[in-house]
Amino acid sequence: MDTDILFKQSIEDKENFWEKQAKEIQWFTFPQQIISHDKNEYPQWFSDGQLNMCYLCIDKHIEDGFGDQTAIIYDSPVTNQKRTYTFDQAKEEISKFAGGLVSLGLKKGDTAVIYMPMIPQTLFAMLACARIGVIHNVVFGGFAPHELVVRIDDCKPKALITATAGIEIARRIPYLPLVEKAIELAQDKVDHIIVYNRKLVDNRNEMFEGLIDYEELVQSSEPADCVSVKSTHPLYLLYTSGTTGKPKGIVRDTGGYATALKFSMKYIYGIEQGETYWAASDFGWAVGHSFSVYGPLINRNTTIIFEGKPIMTPDAGTFWRIISEYKVSTMFTAPTAIRAIKKEDPNGELVKKYDLSHFKKQFLAGERCDVATLDWFEEHIGVPAIDHWWQTESGWPMLGLMTSDSNYKIKRASAGKPIPGYDIKIFDENGYELDAHQEGYLIIKLPLPPGALLGIWNDNERFHSSYLSQYKGYYFSGDGAIQDEDGYIFITGRVDDVINVAGHRLSTSEMEEIVSSHPDVAECAVVGIDDELKGQIPFAAVVLKNGSAITEQEVEKDIIRMVREKIGAVAFLKNAMVVKRLPKTRSGKTLRKLIRTLLDGKDFQIPSTIYDEKIIEEIQEKINDYRA
Ligand code: COA
Ligand code: AMP
Repeated sequence: MDTDILFKQSIEDKENFWEKQAKEIQWFTFPQQIISHDKNEYPQWFSDGQLNMCYLCIDKHIEDGFGDQTAIIYDSPVTNQKRTYTFDQAKEEISKFAGGLVSLGLKKGDTAVIYMPMIPQTLFAMLACARIGVIHNVVFGGFAPHELVVRIDDCKPKALITATAGIEIARRIPYLPLVEKAIELAQDKVDHIIVYNRKLVDNRNEMFEGLIDYEELVQSSEPADCVSVKSTHPLYLLYTSGTTGKPKGIVRDTGGYATALKFSMKYIYGIEQGETYWAASDFGWAVGHSFSVYGPLINRNTTIIFEGKPIMTPDAGTFWRIISEYKVSTMFTAPTAIRAIKKEDPNGELVKKYDLSHFKKQFLAGERCDVATLDWFEEHIGVPAIDHWWQTESGWPMLGLMTSDSNYKIKRASAGKPIPGYDIKIFDENGYELDAHQEGYLIIKLPLPPGALLGIWNDNERFHSSYLSQYKGYYFSGDGAIQDEDGYIFITGRVDDVINVAGHRLSTSEMEEIVSSHPDVAECAVVGIDDELKGQIPFAAVVLKNGSAITEQEVEKDIIRMVREKIGAVAFLKNAMVVKRLPKTRSGKTLRKLIRTLLDGKDFQIPSTIYDEKIIEEIQEKINDYRA
């Protein structure tokens, strides 16, 4: 169907449009109420429908006669392992693990934290939770104990499911010491800690008392059936960075999400059932949830779990090897991964080694994709590279192209057009809609379509203040954007304290809290500066306390260590510079954008609100010294 017509229907006749899409998935009870509102007047989808996500991903395909189709491919160059699981085999493992969770007393509505690397057992744990209505919270394996503690204290899990270790290229990252530390620091006790022992090395000294062995639990348990849950039952919580130090627990529903993912696979990715689809993201991010697990499995696609990096495992040809070996038709990754490959293999020599004849489309998201990277991709890979834009909050793309329509047209540097269901506008500060080519705030008229966030876990006030209070009746995305006369939208970047480092969303406020806790630091500003490879990296400008005797080198070293210890190595704060003063407005607000512009070496206008212009010169000199 013509994309413009589909979009128009989704906005002008929403209920009929989404009722029709909901019929594309199997419900235990089909909803009578297509759209309703919660007690705070926030829209909800299909509230009286009943279904089960694990059933849709696994059991349904077995009932339809596809039990022996490969559901999951695990490819781990870092451990030299490869394995496939059919839908039948996946069901066996998932239902027994779900039975194990039930035997431990977990039930519908409880929460479980999953802190695991890129192995099949992570996906099994997610689906086992979904099977019995347990709300999962996957925590990215690269986060430090403090991040785990924040999540444990906020969602109070009955179980923590983990593994003995992750692997970063050739470095083993033991998880159990991190888990032990987190458990010690958390205010709330976790009843059960389940560990998948990867047996990579003799790890007896890392084990601590009371751990439950994942494999023993699976082997000793009876399979559990799928329980019926309400459409609005939370499938998972996924914490993401906001404008304060504390991450926000985004709540995802079940029925709206399943409908939206089925719609995405069919129309946005334009993929047929049975084909192989690969989203090379960690399970710990939104992409990992929606397009490494739930989306492809709902659509009966084979999904790939890749444990490695785009480069060095063993080389920058890994992506092309996987695409060729498993006949991947559609792939999804972050531009930073392509930039890393391009840097290692500028002439595309490694690409030539592989047969990419099954490869049809490359999707990109997570950060802006620069044109040079698109050029490289087009020259050496030769399949369309399609940028699309979304957030943890939406759970599925909000801007993009409907590639099921063969007439789709890519406009370079644009993240596409609004996806059906998303009534996107560009507003100025005062709430006036801007004309084409004017930069403003990207906002979305409520109701958001099915699949988008239900709220923030345990914090309705923050939900409203973060997203709904800026423009009444609209969702505030936190991104700036420009629309052209053809309706294509160009994302210009975050307008808040969130930065994107190598496709990882991080909060500069959280880093500022850590830096400020240094005993010699009086105040600081952490900003995201441009980086050729990672897109952005954080940079700290710090003011020392009067009389402090610490050297610049010492304070920089301390700050780097503290951020690494608290957030994790992914935060990638590697630079801190001591300044005499921070530039501020007359009302005392730090001019972070000015600091960022100075560090990026870009042209700037002196803000009219600045308290003392001389600080600009001071900082400029300091930057020159620091860089020298
Ligand atoms: N566990 C432990 N540590 C981890 C980790 C994990 N799961 N993931 C990253 N790290 C560590 C790295 O080892 C590195 O540590 P180091 O500073 O001691 O070397 C640090 O965190 C920074 O990692 P990263 O930014 O990932 O850099 P990299 O050089 O290891 O890899 C890329 C660069 C581009 C290959 C990688 O960042 C990537 O694939 N990004 C895509 C992210 C993505 O898919 N996002 C989802 C949105 S689509
Ligand atoms: P996350 O919630 O981790 O998915 O990060 C969401 C943020 O990543 C968005 O608010 C954007 O700032 C950025 N982002 C995601 N996709 C794109 C894209 N295609 N182009 C530019 N920025 C993007």
